[in-house]
Amino acid sequence: MTPGAAASSWEVLRATALSCTKCPLAEGRTNVVFGVGDPHADLLFVGEGPGHQEDLAGEPFVGRSGKLLDRLMLEEIGLTRAQCYIANVVKCRPPQNRDPAPAEIEACRPYLEEQITHINPTVVVALGNFATRLLLDRAEGIRQLRGAVYPYRSGHLVPTYHPAYVLRAGGEALAEMRADLIRAKRLMGRGT
Ligand code: URA
Ligand code: SF4
Repeated sequence: MTPGAAASSWEVLRATALSCTKCPLAEGRTNVVFGVGDPHADLLFVGEGPGHQEDLAGEPFVGRSGKLLDRLMLEEIGLTRAQCYIANVVKCRPPQNRDPAPAEIEACRPYLEEQITHINPTVVVALGNFATRLLLDRAEGIRQLRGAVYPYRSGHLVPTYHPAYVLRAGGEALAEMRADLIRAKRLMGRGT
């Protein structure tokens, strides 16, 4: 594909998602939260789904979890959100922040898969159970799966905790998340 065609296919994908009504989450949303950052980034973060603030802003991880994510990506990897890409498993907010349902995850999955194809990142960091289980096609929880690197497409996947969990759990979980981000940095060839 020529660069122009690639850019336009990304815009088509984005526009399609922004008007999507493929699942019931369309009903309660304010904004479809497609993603943010550099669509050519080496590093992709995948969260679960928009919360209240993200639904209002139309941008992922703008609330308290996002502040922690921004801080950790800068401190451990040296990148800002503009230099990576951030997306979610579901693009519309589940009501009352409930877990996304399996049918909603499946309905939304093609958007994420196409985003990953287009971005073609070296490293995907999966934040929490929903992103990790979906992308690795594994049933175990994040506690079992984190702490290792998994082959993913032509690159690598690093599972870590969701920042909302780290905000609640603190201490050891925070140290483990930092260690996971250092793993991601090494895989990107960004030093020790
Ligand atoms: N939690 C998520 O999983 N994604 C967001 O965008 C915000 C909070
Ligand atoms: Fe479409 Fe995904 Fe929103 Fe469901 S969550 S309406 S599949 S964009």
